[in-house]
Amino acid sequence: MSTKIPVLFLGATGYVGGSVLTRLLARPDAQTFEITALVRSEEKAKKLEDFGVKTAVGSFKNDVLVERLSEAAHVVFSCADSDDLPAIQALLKGLKQRHVKTGDVPILIHTSGTGILTYGHETKGMSATDAIYDDSDFEQVANIDPAAFHRNVDSAIFDADREGYCRAYIVIPSTIYTVAKGPLVDAGIQKKHSHQIPALIRASLARGQAGVVGKGLALWPDVHLDDQVEFYTVLYDAIVKNGPDNVDHGIQGYYYGESGEHSWYDISKEIGRVMVELGLSKSDEPTSFTAEELAKYFGSEEFGNYWGTNSRARGTHSRSLGWKPRYTTADMIASIKPEVEAILREQQR
Ligand SMILES: NC(=O)c1ccc[n+]([C@@H]2O[C@H](COP(=O)([O-])OP(=O)(O)OC[C@H]3O[C@@H](n4cnc5c(N)ncnc54)[C@H](OP(=O)(O)O)[C@@H]3O)[C@@H](O)[C@H]2O)c1
Repeated sequence: MSTKIPVLFLGATGYVGGSVLTRLLARPDAQTFEITALVRSEEKAKKLEDFGVKTAVGSFKNDVLVERLSEAAHVVFSCADSDDLPAIQALLKGLKQRHVKTGDVPILIHTSGTGILTYGHETKGMSATDAIYDDSDFEQVANIDPAAFHRNVDSAIFDADREGYCRAYIVIPSTIYTVAKGPLVDAGIQKKHSHQIPALIRASLARGQAGVVGKGLALWPDVHLDDQVEFYTVLYDAIVKNGPDNVDHGIQGYYYGESGEHSWYDISKEIGRVMVELGLSKSDEPTSFTAEELAKYFGSEEFGNYWGTNSRARGTHSRSLGWKPRYTTADMIASIKPEVEAILREQQR
């Protein structure tokens, strides 16, 4: 029987998950893990096996499969979907079965997002709001509205932790930026673009001028991909070193990922500047998306307005584990030109 630590990895082909998995595989103790990744693509599964990762091909829609895989895992890295409640319920069911059958208390490191902090701060880009959320303020964390984005999934995880059959830690990244690089990207396994900034870039390129929701005055935190990935390492190491009970978990286990704050205008203005520099726009001044444009470029007007919400976070709790992010909002702005160029190259292929 294998004495390796069984790890279930969700989101291995994604922007965040691919980078977290790459880091896990590069650890000096990587050989002590037996990693199984649940992936949807058979082709990517085959490629992942070349990296020493076992795979199960399937989707979160297959709850029996999710349950079976999580029951087999002592550690779960969940870096896939912060809003899929049925998938998390199946995952938790498997962890509970493991606990009941073996007495093990598995570790769940789940990824949510600071979208959770936008509830009540949806100003459609017309103003910044004052409320700042600090992850070390447990009362404030406990009082986040149950109707907030991602919170239904997080609440199911809090309940599981409270029941005691797993120890759960929730990583809450903000606007993660930069084009992902690494062996899983090179092998065509991992997505290399994040979501928020690339979506604004694609919309701006399509309309020939930088766009912004409202006046772009709303504020969001940002974090470089490398810093965010490093946090998963810091967290996992703290859990191993101090023991799972001695690292804040459950409803006290929120860890915001931020190392700066931007207005949406700042991002759009830089997109505009880059577009002018590249001869793609006459003006660097962002103009407001119309309702039709929001629907066209973001899927719906309502979803488009997400780029005009406020989410103001301070990762004091994350830093208390020894996390020291190296990048700042200036680096985020500097990441926009290479991101525009990468997207243009892909569009020209
Ligand atoms: N990127 C950010 O700036 C950011 C910020 C805050 C929070 N987050 C959160 O972090 C998580 C990952 O984000 P990301 O940027 O890495 O997204 P992504 O690049 O779209 O990756 C999502 C991953 O989840 C997998 N997945 C999604 N639905 C699945 C399903 N039904 N069955 C099996 N696998 C499924 C995808 O597999 P396929 O390859 O098959 O699609 C992919 O591996 C999300 O929950 C997101 O909300 C991201």
